[in-house]
Amino acid sequence: MVSQPRAQVLVASNRGPVSYALGEDGSLTASRGGGGLVSGLSAIGPDTDALWVCAALGDGDREAVRRTGGLLDPAETGGQRVRMLGIDPEVYADAYNEIANSTLWFVHHLLYQTPLEPVFGTEFRAQWASYEKYNAAFAEALAESAADGAAVLVQDYHLALVPGLLRELRPDLRIGHFSHTPWAPVDYFRMLPDDIAAQLLRGILGADRAAFLTRRWADAFAACCTELLGADALASTELGVHGLGADADFLRERSHRPDVAERMVALREQIGAGRKAVVRVDRTELSKNIVRGLLAYRQLLRDRPEWREKVVHVAFAYPSRQDLAIYREYTAEVQRTADAVNSEFGTESWTPVILHVKDDFARSLAAYRLADVALVNPIRDGMNLVAKEVPVVSDEGCALVLSREAGAFEELGEDALVVNPYDVLATADALHAGLSMGADERAQRTKRLAAAATALPPQQWFLDQLEALRGGG
Ligand code: G6P
Repeated sequence: MVSQPRAQVLVASNRGPVSYALGEDGSLTASRGGGGLVSGLSAIGPDTDALWVCAALGDGDREAVRRTGGLLDPAETGGQRVRMLGIDPEVYADAYNEIANSTLWFVHHLLYQTPLEPVFGTEFRAQWASYEKYNAAFAEALAESAADGAAVLVQDYHLALVPGLLRELRPDLRIGHFSHTPWAPVDYFRMLPDDIAAQLLRGILGADRAAFLTRRWADAFAACCTELLGADALASTELGVHGLGADADFLRERSHRPDVAERMVALREQIGAGRKAVVRVDRTELSKNIVRGLLAYRQLLRDRPEWREKVVHVAFAYPSRQDLAIYREYTAEVQRTADAVNSEFGTESWTPVILHVKDDFARSLAAYRLADVALVNPIRDGMNLVAKEVPVVSDEGCALVLSREAGAFEELGEDALVVNPYDVLATADALHAGLSMGADERAQRTKRLAAAATALPPQQWFLDQLEALRGGG
């Protein structure tokens, strides 16, 4: 048991704000992550007694837990108190890879090829037992670390059972759950075994508040609750919507540093003088629809020869979840499709698709700044912050081709070129419309997009949730 002062505000998420790499000489190197939660939590200031509880993700993290007992050195976390949980690697792999990422993520993003999957048999049940253990480890750590009446903000599908388990251990706490993903429509959610579907819903309903990125996902959750559990299911849980926005101050400052300027020069050279750029920046994630994006671009070049030699598709597709075979296959398919477009249309002086797979944040910002068209066409997405970030940093205005299935559509739909992500022909038309848009219109739309995209910066997003959770007492 770790001894420490008990916290007034607790955040729980699978991935924490820091991760450790284990060197061959046994040394540990910490690296800090960014994202909405990190800057959100900073809003409460160093004086508030806050603790972030997260899981050890890999060997480096587990070694850090072993050496510290789980309470990380604040010098390595940016001052944040962090308790990292050393969960048995096999239990963790089942919970994270098999249940969270291969089941719940698939359900909420509608990713199954249903004739053959999912199959819920004995293997799945064993994995589910690991997911229960992993959730119980979080609930126990939170119960142990929370001061009387503390506020606990539990994040995402990894930890859907935590609110219910924690409620039993500590009825005095104020518990919130936030889903960063979409929520599945009822008929799709019902693919899960009945008892497990009910357990997931009841887990989240253990919270005082269950919050989502858009009204659409909150409504889908409510529909699942009433349909599966009955009309009273929502009686003691408040639903909330907090549409996380882009962090304008951070982005504007960061995107004007010299490393970004350098990368703009390099990118411009790769694109070629006088050519337009269609930009996409994503993790190589099944839900991001990168392959259909490339097919739409190919269609544009097939149907509208006037764009040949005049445009380049700059596609950044950064590796993600490479432990899963289907992600590795998808990554290869992205590469194959890009190669196919290049061999169909490329010339000595023109490479139609520039695909980069190595994560480089400064280069992403450089691409945001110079993009003429941003392509954001996910199959389904909780929010999609790229759609919100591009208009904020764009130098001269950028047309946004946006899937209606992204959460961001709710706020950005009016000034974007909206597409059905499965319709490659319509997406090609939208790319054409974006590339053809006059400079004035582009600038005007970008201004309005940037205003909508920054309406709820991460810090306010976090404070609103905390206030709503405490106020509801
Ligand atoms: C995205 C989703 C989050 C999710 C995260 C997990 O950011 O929007 O809902 O928690 O991915 O990613 P990871 O790399 O930790 O599996």
